[in-house]
Amino acid sequence: MIKDSKNLLDPSPEQIRSWANAAVELIADYLSTIRDRRVYPSTSSRQIRERLDSSLPEEPANFDELLHTFRNTLIELSRHNGHPRMFGYVQAPGTAIAAIADLLASALNANLTAWRSAPAAVEIERLTINWIKQIIGFNREGAGLFVSGGSMANMAALAAARRAKAPAQIQNKGAQSCAKTLRVYASEETHHSVAKAAALLGIGRDNVRLVSVNERHKINLDELVAAIEEDRAAGHLPICLVANAGTVATGAFDPFRQIGEIARRFNLWLHVDGAYGGFAALAASTRPLFGSIEEADSLALDPHKWLYLPVDCGCVLYRDPEIARATFAHEAEYTRVIGQEADEAFAFWDYGPELSRRFRALKVWMLLKSVGLQALGEAIEKDLACARHFEKLVQNSEDFEMLAPVELSIFCFRHLPARLKGALATGSSEREKIEKQLDAHNERLLLALQRDGSSYLSNAQLRGRFSLRGCVMNYRTTLRDMEILLGDLRRVGAQLEVSG
Ligand SMILES: Cc1ncc(COP(=O)(O)O)c(C=O)c1O
Repeated sequence: MIKDSKNLLDPSPEQIRSWANAAVELIADYLSTIRDRRVYPSTSSRQIRERLDSSLPEEPANFDELLHTFRNTLIELSRHNGHPRMFGYVQAPGTAIAAIADLLASALNANLTAWRSAPAAVEIERLTINWIKQIIGFNREGAGLFVSGGSMANMAALAAARRAKAPAQIQNKGAQSCAKTLRVYASEETHHSVAKAAALLGIGRDNVRLVSVNERHKINLDELVAAIEEDRAAGHLPICLVANAGTVATGAFDPFRQIGEIARRFNLWLHVDGAYGGFAALAASTRPLFGSIEEADSLALDPHKWLYLPVDCGCVLYRDPEIARATFAHEAEYTRVIGQEADEAFAFWDYGPELSRRFRALKVWMLLKSVGLQALGEAIEKDLACARHFEKLVQNSEDFEMLAPVELSIFCFRHLPARLKGALATGSSEREKIEKQLDAHNERLLLALQRDGSSYLSNAQLRGRFSLRGCVMNYRTTLRDMEILLGDLRRVGAQLEVSG
């Protein structure tokens, strides 16, 4: 029996101060030196496991030891998502203010199930959701909530779409109670979380019809209409159309206005996936893309992407909150709200899939209040400028080519080594063979770049071709970083040529 179990779980104020001060010192050191680190560590699963004490912790360890492991194992052997040349995937850097907000949220340990559980925290969430609606230009009557991420937001929206447009009995009797096959429409560039949501909701992956895209990677509207008409003629039930506000591979925006018209014409729920591009509404140069966003019935957003927040924080907005309520409300005695007025009887569990929910809104509120919209808009504008700068650098180079136009802050391109470029230009019958060699070369280059550690890219498959892909989503990234990235690729590429 450990003597001090109360003190171990409930330390003295002095103890809390000493732990927190040491941790905050470490945070300040880490964030102020992040640019000097390798983006990606050179390590292996085995090396990390060997550094961690795997024995069951029967006895308490000293806090200094834990912080030592954080500093020397966790920081040293992590990918640094806040590094200015971390261009992989759709990755935010996090911000210091949000790290502090998360600490405070955990200290308060508010559980945002319903107003009665966390009165002030729930009001902060309702307030920040309202701000987000205004930022995006979403319908004023709408409502929403924070969820774990874009995938969960897409799933909640699809659940609401199914409730609104398919027979209500599905809620209780399951999809098999509907004689018709439900159909969802989205471009082939849509994030896989939409198909996953369809699978989980019993709609079925195969019932998400993936429509081809044009040369700018936006949905082909004629094909979309033809697919809906074909399904109706076959006796299926089209329920939902998913439009992208920034696709994950290239950042393409589907044309909302026309898609809105099609949704209305066929009585479909219009869901917009803005997990990546939603907060581009804050930047003056991309704001016009959001012209018809109020047409949307639901919108998925990810403050843990382009609001620069640390994971996790997704957000779903519904134009008609009553449909969300009809989708998610479930009467149970243990959640029944007794004797309260409408505002205080409010419960987030009626509008989304989760019951217990952490206080995600605090970091959103602290960030928006402490930075302000103007500075956030400027930071996003600068990210866009970095991607456009990189596009120009590539277009003016002899040894790289763009594979997709830059619409937001994603850039897709490939390296053209001289030995393959010449062969490609001849337009010979060998073209497909050369293309395959280029795919293989760029794949090797990507791996070598990631191992090198100065810059980090990920990849995309565009019209069957392997593409290097970067996404600028970091207030630390500068135009100069884009030049360094190109230099890194040339340096690593030259090493590959030498090593064969
Ligand atoms: C367009 C798009 N939708 C959805 C998602 C899924 O978001 P999350 O990773 O927060 O679940 C992503 C992730 O990158 C995305 O880019």
